[in-house]
Amino acid sequence: MDNKFVFATNNNHKIEEVREIAEDKFDILSLKQIDCFDEIPEDQNTLEGNALQKAKYIWEKYQINCFADDTGLEVDFLNGAPGVFSARYAGEACNFNANIDKLLCEMGDTPYRNARFRTVVALILDGTEYFFDGAIEGRIINEKRGLGGFGYDSVFIPEGLNETFAELPAMVKNSISHRAIAMQKLFYFLRHYQR
Ligand code: IMP
Repeated sequence: MDNKFVFATNNNHKIEEVREIAEDKFDILSLKQIDCFDEIPEDQNTLEGNALQKAKYIWEKYQINCFADDTGLEVDFLNGAPGVFSARYAGEACNFNANIDKLLCEMGDTPYRNARFRTVVALILDGTEYFFDGAIEGRIINEKRGLGGFGYDSVFIPEGLNETFAELPAMVKNSISHRAIAMQKLFYFLRHYQR
């Protein structure tokens, strides 16, 4: 197996996070490194569908082994919303703050605040598709706390802790997160893959 993989994301933080998990054994290439500046479509209605759509785009255009991820925040009180629509919960051209404001407004003062982040990674290796997932349980608090992270981090407290993802040191968040769990499964699989 070639040790080169494209990670189909434009998010440099994610690339760095994943390179740490992959250690020196794998060469993780960004889209920029393969001269891909396309708007990769991501319009499916499941996390699996979106992750696969992005990975397939790269495989079909470049025939390089690749993987892509998609994440959603699933809130039980909202029947799993915003889920796959997490990035654009408050509308197409919205930002993280608008999404959080909408979430807190929809939840009101309900005591049922359980939620989880879930990530799905789709891998295409020599033309075959594989999926890995990771989730972290927690709860949504009713006001923002902390300045770190991104997205919904400032209102999410992981189970067993008292600080939001935005209050925890990045190293701690990145070692326990939904994405870290899914990526660790991916690299465990790749380290043991033989053909
Ligand atoms: P993506 O698939 O990683 O781009 O995530 C889709 C959306 O989910 C993002 O725009 C964020 O709103 C949210 N999200 C993903 N990962 C995280 C995270 O680690 N913390 C907080 N929000 C996240």
